[in-house]
Amino acid sequence: MAELIDGKLISSIIKDECKARIEKLKSEGKEVALAVIQVGDDPASSVYVGNKKKACEYIGAVSLSYHLEESATQEELLELIDKLNLDDKVNGILVQLPLPKSFDEDEVIRRIDPDKDVDGFHPINVGRLSIGEKGFVSCTPAGIIELLKRSNVSIEGKECVVIGRSNIVGKPMAMLMLRENATVTVCHSRTKDLREVTKRADILIVAIGKPKMIDASYVKEGAVVIDVGIHRPDPDSKKLCGDVDFESVEKIASKITPVPGGVGPMTIAMLMNNLVNSAE
Ligand code: GUN
Repeated sequence: MAELIDGKLISSIIKDECKARIEKLKSEGKEVALAVIQVGDDPASSVYVGNKKKACEYIGAVSLSYHLEESATQEELLELIDKLNLDDKVNGILVQLPLPKSFDEDEVIRRIDPDKDVDGFHPINVGRLSIGEKGFVSCTPAGIIELLKRSNVSIEGKECVVIGRSNIVGKPMAMLMLRENATVTVCHSRTKDLREVTKRADILIVAIGKPKMIDASYVKEGAVVIDVGIHRPDPDSKKLCGDVDFESVEKIASKITPVPGGVGPMTIAMLMNNLVNSAE
């Protein structure tokens, strides 16, 4: 049976580390602040934004909330970002995505000062990651690296297969694993024989967005399996599942992340880590 990788525990350790770092900054007279912008009232976004504010409060950072109506204009949003870019008291700026359809998300992301882009979405930060320079890294893949390292999974020289090629998870994940000296393969919806590729993986990172798609037939005996997916298969039940068929894969993997309590909690912890890095 696979050992569980406890994202809830590891994320709380990271948040406590952030808290201690902020205490030190405060003793030097420095406050840490995250500006969080929400446009419209998408209920899921409101939950995420609320969780980010709570995490700020926990680590001792100030969260500055900005809410624009769905009827606001692109220009109004850009003006707000310009103002926050220039505000020395603001260490990080986060615009909750997705934006309502009338907004140009790419332009919004590019407007954020790359040195306050704690989401790591600005093309400058994506470029920095790909050439091995310091910069903000997208929180979910950065969190997966922490999960692996803090669970004593060695990465160097390992065969790593990433399923999914999104800008937020798959691509930065591949870059980070390369930086850790893994041999990296990225699979996606057009990959011909997915099983043939995933069966080679010592470390399999699954971010396809399909509930329970990856069962034991895709996994090598003893592999470490990281499940980025989160789904509620039955709308009438609170029960969640990932992209991995947990019951099937836990029998042959050496380590596995559960859903919930695996990758999920790491995203906000790494957002806090990026924020504190920015302040330091
Ligand atoms: N929407 C879903 N995930 C994220 C995230 O990590 N950052 C932002 N800004 N919006 C999101």
